[in-house]
Amino acid sequence: MDIGDMRREFESEGLDRDDLDDDPIRQFERWFEDARTAGILEPNAMSLATAGADGMPDLRTVLLKYFDARGFVFYTNYGSRKARELEDNPRAALLFPWLGLNRQVRIQGPVEKVSKAESLRYFASRPRGSQIGAWVSEQSRAITSRGLLEQKVAEMKRKFAGGEVPLPSFWGGYRVVPERVEFWQGRPSRLHDRFEYLRTDDGWHIQRLQP
Ligand SMILES: Cc1cc2nc3c(=O)[nH]c(=O)nc-3n(C[C@H](O)[C@H](O)[C@H](O)COP(=O)(O)O)c2cc1C
Repeated sequence: MDIGDMRREFESEGLDRDDLDDDPIRQFERWFEDARTAGILEPNAMSLATAGADGMPDLRTVLLKYFDARGFVFYTNYGSRKARELEDNPRAALLFPWLGLNRQVRIQGPVEKVSKAESLRYFASRPRGSQIGAWVSEQSRAITSRGLLEQKVAEMKRKFAGGEVPLPSFWGGYRVVPERVEFWQGRPSRLHDRFEYLRTDDGWHIQRLQP
């Protein structure tokens, strides 16, 4: 099978300016709901791109936990590789690849840590196993065996037995504040529909982009 021959026509309905909400967050909300109801696997899984001081792009999947007018929030370890890159360069790009709907959404903007109170609220809502997991992993650092991780799990379970698992100081959320949001809808013969929202001092500016 030649990978170069793998292609698919995108038979989906078009996207017009009149279909779009003036606000990209509300437009995202509509498309997110479409992805959820269409049964897309993990519609809240998004690629998160960062680049540290050396400018080398880096990319991984994280889960969107919630979004509103302030931005898009994910949770992670504040000592991880992505966190170190965000310290050097607090800007990121997000990608939602909703291929089953012939759609993708791209978001770019500055990134800020959410408040401790906000992280605590979210942490408290997580299953206990995930809370313990946050304590156990020095995310992105090398470890010599899985056994060591399992030992640490047993240790943390003993330590927090019978009580609430506290929020680790090294764990919490980041909010990507959108400055550019692009909605892409696949169309036949590669004549796709693309609309870009750019944040300006007078609100969101929307334009169609060539495919
Ligand atoms: C579907 C999926 C969801 C994930 N969600 C998260 C997440 O919400 N937070 C997180 O820190 N890592 C998540 N990961 C793991 C990351 O992709 C990555 O391995 C980890 O965050 C370490 O990345 P880093 O070394 O660049 O910091 C997820 C991975 C997958 C495949």
